[in-house]
Amino acid sequence: IDELLAEGVAGKRVFVRADLNVPLDGTTITDDGRIRAVQPTIARLAEAGARVIVASHLGRPKGAPDPAFSLAPAATRLGELLGAEVAFATDTVGDSARAVVSGLADGQVAVVENLRFNAGETSKDDAERGAFADQLAELADLYVGDGFGAVHRKHASVFDLPARLPHAAGGLIATEVGVLRKLTDDVRRPYAVVLGGAKVSDKLGVIDHLLGKADRILIGGGMAYTFLKAKGYEIGTSLLQEDQIPAVQEYLKRAEETGVEFVLPVDVSVAEEFPDLKTKAPAESSVVAADAIPAGRMGLDIGPETGRLYASKLADARTVFWNGPMGVFEHPDYAEGTRAVAQALVDSTGFSVVGGGGGRGAGHPAAAVRTLGFDEKAFGHISTGGGASLEYLEGKTLPGLAALED
Ligand code: 3PG
Repeated sequence: IDELLAEGVAGKRVFVRADLNVPLDGTTITDDGRIRAVQPTIARLAEAGARVIVASHLGRPKGAPDPAFSLAPAATRLGELLGAEVAFATDTVGDSARAVVSGLADGQVAVVENLRFNAGETSKDDAERGAFADQLAELADLYVGDGFGAVHRKHASVFDLPARLPHAAGGLIATEVGVLRKLTDDVRRPYAVVLGGAKVSDKLGVIDHLLGKADRILIGGGMAYTFLKAKGYEIGTSLLQEDQIPAVQEYLKRAEETGVEFVLPVDVSVAEEFPDLKTKAPAESSVVAADAIPAGRMGLDIGPETGRLYASKLADARTVFWNGPMGVFEHPDYAEGTRAVAQALVDSTGFSVVGGGGGRGAGHPAAAVRTLGFDEKAFGHISTGGGASLEYLEGKTLPGLAALED
């Protein structure tokens, strides 16, 4: 983007592909981290006199307009952060978008409606995606890719559009990639990785890759129960991906062979039912040993002993990557495990990277550390990418980065 700004963008229509996929409670944004992260790029372009068109997806609507997934709240928040009026188009490439873009004066910013209201955005068919990218290209003269959270998606606005316009990477992408390089090239050891979240299937690729790279892998969250089951423990009604058990067993075996320390919970908080996240009513829960989860109970957080164990494993780590919460942190009764890991990273002198993620209400550590009241600055880096940072660490080619390097 520095080169683009040096060449001059005054009067140019610049399309910024951002990731404004923020968690929402109705129309209230519960964590605006992703908007704040891309705001400097938008501000720099506007200050340089560009006519800025900001586009993003939000959630996973089905290729057609759906008011529940409107980007309007994100546009409002962006305006607050910029301290300027932000125009909003109620469609992405239709009459409203064309009118809003042609009404932009130099230095003004507009947000167009959710890219995924258009089937072409996420289509697997190259021609359909290309046709939508053609429509997007008509809106702009230049393209800035700065939606790091979506660079792993081969979508029209991420992958096909940069091929149609002179393009550059924004400041957020540059920062994110710079940080992730520290985890892949010449990493400082011990290198510990904390993985949580619901699904083990989402993390298999990264585990596979990290088995040759990390010194310690600590497992928590919903995915931990498939590991406990794979070890032969009864897990009651806890989350289980039965079809993943053979893969998990294979990884546990490989970890032993390669000397990677695989650390699983030793105790867990259990309850009879999933807690009510709306009322946050106190839950009736108890702490049990991880190999003694009673029938009819589900694990909802790592227990206090596991929290202490994980903190001790992180204390001397010089590099830490963390992706996925340790429990249902959105409910105060099950936030302690996630809080313990966050506190361990705050206390450690190593370089810590906290992975993001998004979607409507989806729990992820980047949001968790903020909602639990931690100061972002206490961490080495809080990423805006969930799947994107995981796939980067897997060594995959990310379509949105490849398109910008081209
Ligand atoms: C995310 O939240 O990880 C990104 O915004 C990508 O969203 P997606 O998983 O729906 O493509």
